[in-house]
Amino acid sequence: MKILLLSSAYNSLTQLAHVWLKSSHYEVAVATATTAETMRQAVMQFQPDLILCPMLAQVIPRDIWENHTCIIIHPGIAGDRGPNSLDWAILNEEKEWGVIAVQAEEHVDSGALWASYRFPMREGSKSSLYRDEVAQAAMQSMMVAVHRFETGLFVPAPLDYSRPEVRGRYRPAVKPAQRQIDWQNDRVADIIKKIRSADGQPGLLDEIGGEPFYLHGAHEEGTLIGIPGDIIAKRHGAICRAAVDGAVWISHLRPKGRQADGFIKLPATDVLGSLLDNVPEVPVPLHYSLPTRTYRDIWYEERNDVGYVNFRFYNGAMGTEHCQRLNEAVNYAKSRPTKVIVLSGGRDFFSNGIHLNLIEAAADPAEESWQNINAMDDLVLSILTATDHYVIAALYGSAGAGGVMLPLAADRVFAREGIVLNPHYKGMGGLYGSEYWTYSLPKRVGQELALQLTEQCLPISVEYAKSIGMIDDIIIQDGCCPSNFTGFQEQIVRIAEKLAHAENYAALLEQKRQVREADEKIKPLEQYRMEELEEMNQNFWGEDPAYHIARSAFVRKLPRPGNVQCSATLKLVCGNAQCEDAVQNSRNRCAFSPVAMPQRRAVGAGR
Ligand code: COA
Repeated sequence: MKILLLSSAYNSLTQLAHVWLKSSHYEVAVATATTAETMRQAVMQFQPDLILCPMLAQVIPRDIWENHTCIIIHPGIAGDRGPNSLDWAILNEEKEWGVIAVQAEEHVDSGALWASYRFPMREGSKSSLYRDEVAQAAMQSMMVAVHRFETGLFVPAPLDYSRPEVRGRYRPAVKPAQRQIDWQNDRVADIIKKIRSADGQPGLLDEIGGEPFYLHGAHEEGTLIGIPGDIIAKRHGAICRAAVDGAVWISHLRPKGRQADGFIKLPATDVLGSLLDNVPEVPVPLHYSLPTRTYRDIWYEERNDVGYVNFRFYNGAMGTEHCQRLNEAVNYAKSRPTKVIVLSGGRDFFSNGIHLNLIEAAADPAEESWQNINAMDDLVLSILTATDHYVIAALYGSAGAGGVMLPLAADRVFAREGIVLNPHYKGMGGLYGSEYWTYSLPKRVGQELALQLTEQCLPISVEYAKSIGMIDDIIIQDGCCPSNFTGFQEQIVRIAEKLAHAENYAALLEQKRQVREADEKIKPLEQYRMEELEEMNQNFWGEDPAYHIARSAFVRKLPRPGNVQCSATLKLVCGNAQCEDAVQNSRNRCAFSPVAMPQRRAVGAGR
């Protein structure tokens, strides 16, 4: 069966749908369509049996849905309609939410119901729910809908608001006034709820020092207090603002203004700068496992011979300073008398590599790119050379680019069922990438596959990653819930403790040391790094400004120029079996003038 995925962007949900359908052996094409005409073109070229829309912000033209079955994946319960479903679910404190697969008809989201899936709501931001519970529920309902369609016999139920199980209804877009924060009266729980309902996009509009900013990344503070509205502390890029009954940490801000004009999301302290000169930095110890409510992006815990290096970076983006602090944490873990170290990444993303927003905002983006990738390499080197410990990487969230290569430095890599991995860099303007990937990726999958994965620029499922040896195992969720962070962590603890107390632990560690020594003799890690950095040097300071253009477009959420270096993303939907992976990319347009050429820099300088 031929399935066309029509989406506004090749985002994580579309990528997930793509890899799920491919692994079920459907013939799949993806079109990132933003206009009626691009949708028509994709349908005409591919001639699909079924059209699925995992994330479509545009209305499908009548001539398409009248002639083809089009199923929309909508993040709401049966009967729910409107553009801000998840925002409302958070604001209304719904206990349970869901995803429906509805047929496209005249009125948006009001077609017949092909499938639905419910999940318990969790206290988290809109984007966090979207990347976890919604993504899992979406895949469940999508697959049920596909199987039902395939039978040719299933008749979807029309939307009928008189039925008791149809609890949803139409809700218009959330108006700014409906979630505006009143710092003099709102309680912490309400402030956090409002911020989370708008996070990651568009962010919650507020004022700081009389200037308008969108707030992102809200966390409750359990100890600090102050005059409501005042900024009373800062830590690791976040600011802490007092409320009537406590305080709230806000990790990121975006000045009001068009993202296209460079008003991008950054750590709050970078945005406010000298306005915070009199605000105290309130540190929190690294090795500290009391369950105090506060904000921290890195912490270390230790139990039963296992050290856990926890990190939670907003959007998985790791700037120079994040990498340096995480490296310190890894080195602290290495100094401890434990046997196993677990690298435990974030819930939303494990990591997405170097911090493109911070780089873009830097006075010298090429120099900042260089500092960032070197800090990342230092971190990876610390993991690769941890020969007194066995190292486990635990991926609950998806990962991209350097964020995929980072965990490959560990001895064992475990990933949650249902995430996607993007083990490639080239989509970012032909970026070569570092993180010692030329050592760790071929070591796991072989040279040929390493080349294929990094050249194709396609996401892969964890099932595929396991089948080629890129990861060691998949942590499968319990049947009861689409998502279970605690269950995942408990399983990792059991795996780590079993390994730490295994009879053959000493032999395993000895084998690890010998392999490292042997590998070092064949080719030193330093040489891998120098070779990768030579390529990165070209990306940052060479004649081709593609990386700078692509990064600039990415952080401004503008169409990216065509990825001439990516083999798969270049193909257009063409309707034959060879084009299974075809991605018709609306980003193949570029409206940018070339950026000024930065000065070339010597490899190895500044380290
Ligand atoms: N630096 C800064 N921000 C990043 C980032 C990075 N490396 N990677 C992702 N983000 C941000 C996005 O801008 C977006 O921000 P928003 O909250 O303002 O919307 C958010 O993370 C989510 O990203 P998005 O692309 O919407 O998520 P996705 O799940 O659909 O896609 C990826 C995930 C990994 C495919 C995609 O984010 C990506 O290509 N990231 C860039 C990876 C990269 O090239 N890293 C640098 C080289 S090491």
